[in-house]
Amino acid sequence: MYRDVSSCNTYNYGDATYWDARYVQDAEMGHFDWYQRYSGLRPFIRMYIPSFSSRILMVGCGNALMSEDMVKDGYEDITNIDISSVAIEMMRRKYECIPQLKYKQMDVRDMSFFLDESFDCVIDKGTLDSLMCGSDASTSAARMLGEVSRLLKAGGIYMLITYGDPSVRMLHLNQPVYNWRIILYIIPRPGFQKPANNSSTSRSYLEPVPLTEKGLLPPDFVVEDPDSHFIYVCKKMDETELSSITYPLDVDHL
Ligand SMILES: C[S@@+](CC[C@H](N)C(=O)[O-])C[C@H]1O[C@@H](n2cnc3c(N)ncnc32)[C@H](O)[C@@H]1O
Repeated sequence: MYRDVSSCNTYNYGDATYWDARYVQDAEMGHFDWYQRYSGLRPFIRMYIPSFSSRILMVGCGNALMSEDMVKDGYEDITNIDISSVAIEMMRRKYECIPQLKYKQMDVRDMSFFLDESFDCVIDKGTLDSLMCGSDASTSAARMLGEVSRLLKAGGIYMLITYGDPSVRMLHLNQPVYNWRIILYIIPRPGFQKPANNSSTSRSYLEPVPLTEKGLLPPDFVVEDPDSHFIYVCKKMDETELSSITYPLDVDHL
């Protein structure tokens, strides 16, 4: 279940032909969820997407079980896109009898197929990370995030699950043009065991992580698992709300 692209040892993660070949090769495996399964993310999904009728967009769905598990939990409307036509065809066939799940091949950097403000929530597990490993990473990230912002309704949520800590993600997310208010959570990778000699009292993973004024982790903040995953909950503020965001925030501000 756990695989990491943090080393970015290949530029291929940004390339559709790489993913097509990989999904052909992995076809027998059937499914694979990067980083976390739905069970690990469920508290955050349920907290930030309380309505089962929310219109949800899963960007870079791959062949993960995440969307299926969300439907089993009650969610009724999940549109899934991926740049890989191989993954999309496999998933479309697999879920043809599940009307709550729709699949469409699409590049997340150009989602002009969808109208502005047509989703309540966009979920991204590992897709911005893939673009960040590709060539022209900053341009790709800006195009993707601009599209995500355009598609979100006012008050909508972009939930990013990534290996990228604030020092490498906040500069992309925290752009005034998106007008996003951002709350961060840090969760350990599945199966992480705290070292036996670690006597520090653990904070709850459901508590937002404090951020400095610049949106970074405080210098004395200790991340228990060095391979933790970061969950950025970005809420699109409407025009009446201030666009200048100052940290630290707490969950009451969302
Ligand atoms: C790291 S995998 C994550 C897959 C899935 N979200 C999961 O959690 O298991 C990244 C996914 O992003 C897709 N992807 C990469 N670049 C993309 C792009 N420009 N547009 C849409 N999807 C893209 C890949 O095909 C791949 O399925």
